[in-house]
Amino acid sequence: MELLELMKYRRSIRKYEDRQIEKNDLNKIIEAGLFAPNAGGGQRCLMVAVHNKDTVEKIGRLNVACMDRSRLVGSYVSKEQPSIIDDPTIKSGFYGAPMVCVLFGPKNFLYSIPDAFCCAENMVLEATNLGISSCIIARGEETFANSEGEAYLKQWNIPETYIARCFVLLGYCKGDYPAEKPRKEGRCLIVEE
Ligand SMILES: Cc1cc2nc3c(=O)[nH]c(=O)nc-3n(C[C@H](O)[C@H](O)[C@H](O)COP(=O)(O)O)c2cc1C
Repeated sequence: MELLELMKYRRSIRKYEDRQIEKNDLNKIIEAGLFAPNAGGGQRCLMVAVHNKDTVEKIGRLNVACMDRSRLVGSYVSKEQPSIIDDPTIKSGFYGAPMVCVLFGPKNFLYSIPDAFCCAENMVLEATNLGISSCIIARGEETFANSEGEAYLKQWNIPETYIARCFVLLGYCKGDYPAEKPRKEGRCLIVEE
């Protein structure tokens, strides 16, 4: 698929088959993340790829538990791929995905968050290229701010100076793959003088 076509085809998937992705594909997706643009060329973003569905489910539940619903705006995120915002009965913020990559950035670095999301975007594009579905997930910071979450950080040897910024879910879309989402008009101005 040509790159622009692939970008338009990519959708956030929230319904996954019970099928793990291959290590070979995972390595390519990780490599795409490692080659993302990064502030000052510092390559600060760290990743933990959790290739175990049970652990993914446990962290996904922590991700929902920390969500502050009082700060949500808007209605449906997606009719075909409902999010935890759309459906409060969903118990895991990782939607049954077989694996998740956790992206960490320094606590005290101005571009820590943009770095992590650039990394995430590279990863979801490479995943799409490989025929693997994905979804970028927020609330990295809050997800691990509890005793269970802290235990994972310790187990993974995450430096004290780092904090989780976001997640990338990976797996295979269950059911129909959603259609391209129409774009809102009037969001871009080209100036030539
Ligand atoms: C910064 C950011 C945070 C996001 N956080 C979540 C999230 O926590 N949960 C979720 O289900 N989707 C999340 N998404 C996915 C968006 O909901 C999704 O990209 C958006 O609805 C557009 O749909 P599409 O990706 O299918 O085009 C996030 C996307 C971005 C860029």
